[in-house]
Amino acid sequence: MSNLEALKKEIVETVKAAGDIQSLEEVRVTALGKKGRVTDLMKTLGTLSPDERKEMGQALNRLKDEISAEIDARASILKAAAMNARLASEKIDVTLTPRPENKGSIHPISQTIEEMITIFADMGFSVAEGPEIEDDFHNFTALNFPPEHPARQMHDTFYLPDVAGKTGDAAKRLLRTHTSTVQVHVMQTQKPPIRVIIPGRTFRSDYDMTHTPMFHQMEGLLIDKAAHMGHLKGCLIEFCKRFFEVDDLPTRFRPSFFPFTEPSAEMDIGCSREKGELKIGAGSSWLEILGCGMVHPNVLKNCGIDPDEYQGFAFGMGIERVAMLKYGIPDLRTFFESDLRWLKHYGFGPLEQPNKALG
Ligand code: PHE
Repeated sequence: MSNLEALKKEIVETVKAAGDIQSLEEVRVTALGKKGRVTDLMKTLGTLSPDERKEMGQALNRLKDEISAEIDARASILKAAAMNARLASEKIDVTLTPRPENKGSIHPISQTIEEMITIFADMGFSVAEGPEIEDDFHNFTALNFPPEHPARQMHDTFYLPDVAGKTGDAAKRLLRTHTSTVQVHVMQTQKPPIRVIIPGRTFRSDYDMTHTPMFHQMEGLLIDKAAHMGHLKGCLIEFCKRFFEVDDLPTRFRPSFFPFTEPSAEMDIGCSREKGELKIGAGSSWLEILGCGMVHPNVLKNCGIDPDEYQGFAFGMGIERVAMLKYGIPDLRTFFESDLRWLKHYGFGPLEQPNKALG
């Protein structure tokens, strides 16, 4: 074996033995660097005869190329190995098997909304929706709240920063304090007869056992030429009997006040409280469950409907409140804590009937 071949063999062995990119680089410097072994040999070419120099020069260049190729090949193996090691150490298994003990369930709010929609759909109502960020007009003015009226403060409204370039009420943006805002949107865009229910999130700055800053309401609106208080009562009594699954459910309507209805009422359902247990149905107590009334002529006018031709009724109820009563959930705040034990206890299976009484 010639000297060059022996040298090549020796260097290639050190290349193959290099365990990482760093030691491979050291091998390269020792062989091909400025003071490397092949480079040293190149420097001796000047001492040779022209013929020998040509032959030796070519041989050394070949040697250099071969060693470079070996180093490149080794480098790509080492880089791939380093990448694989990194991928293995940083691996996240997104396919983690579901834990059967934590399987999902339908939240009581979703379940209750489904149940309510099912009952009202049977009475010919369809579902409407509207924005959660509103202007002063839809939340208050169109609904006949006079300017500076204390009822505006009563709603504990969350205001957003004023809209640039506008002043006064026109600049105000807020989180809707009730779903009655959507009554306005519906009346502005649909021709009577109107028969809609409106489930949705509402927001008020309040927090205790029975108040959370975000809660849900179910609004109802019916507009036609002949609707009267009797229709309102019949509709709501029928709804409550079916929703609470109590055929002889006592109900009563008490006079109340809302700027957007006249007359206005609050509806109570009967209940009993024995040994600390609340039961919906005939008993000696009453529970308030909703607000309602005949749509105020001013509201119809504000929404472009002629109050001499049309009239109707509206109602609004807290969805958490009726869900708490129906399913015996004591604290409103727990609805939004995402506690798996709570969800497992109060949640519903995906194939459960929206309302057993309807099944
Ligand atoms: N918007 C009223 C509230 O939030 C409820 C209501 C709706 C009352 C429709 C009457 C008619 O308290």
